[in-house]
Amino acid sequence: MKNYIGAKPFIFPQPVLLIGSYDAEGKPNLMNVAYGGIVNSNRLQINIGVRHKSSDNIKLTKEFTVGVATEDILVAADYVGIVSGNDEPDKVEKSGLHVIKSEHINAPIIEECMITMECVVEEINQYDQTLRIVAEIKDVLVDDAIALLDGHLDIGRAGIISYDPDQHLYYKLGREVGRAFEDGKQLIG
Ligand SMILES: Cc1cc2nc3c(=O)[nH]c(=O)nc-3n(C[C@H](O)[C@H](O)[C@H](O)COP(=O)(O)O)c2cc1C
Repeated sequence: MKNYIGAKPFIFPQPVLLIGSYDAEGKPNLMNVAYGGIVNSNRLQINIGVRHKSSDNIKLTKEFTVGVATEDILVAADYVGIVSGNDEPDKVEKSGLHVIKSEHINAPIIEECMITMECVVEEINQYDQTLRIVAEIKDVLVDDAIALLDGHLDIGRAGIISYDPDQHLYYKLGREVGRAFEDGKQLIG
């Protein structure tokens, strides 16, 4: 037996993305975004409310970073998702996270993040009170702690967290359970 429960954004897992941007004075800001994802191999999108400080920043600078949140910075990641830089001028300091300017774009990088994508805006469209921002991923900065010698990432060790929009919980992503583009082959032919 199954039951309909109404229209809800139930795609799992949802990411916990930390969006880094600068304002006109070069002050860094961070926000938590779950409504984001991949467009294609070199583009991503984030969907953010028009009133956020980050929205003004990104409209102005057209550049931002996307840090992937992990268990060790969960509290800070949640904090930047419940307090606005419009209300709290010391938001980044109070989060306890440390930021440095990207070498390539005008956006801050969170030193505690294992994976950070440096993005340049291609398109901004508004749907109701939400900005849908499509950006090109220019480069990705990866911490040595999860970099394998063969150039791949040891992603299972990163402690990446995911957001459950139903119960408002964070989950830690676990171990690998299969091989993509491989395991289905047993049903071919
Ligand atoms: C788990 C979580 C997910 C969130 N996802 C989004 C999102 O996808 N889009 C959005 O506009 N706000 C989202 N928020 C809310 C913003 O992060 C929050 O309003 C933040 O204070 C905005 O910061 P700013 O005004 O300093 O830019 C989320 C918050 C949390 C805690």
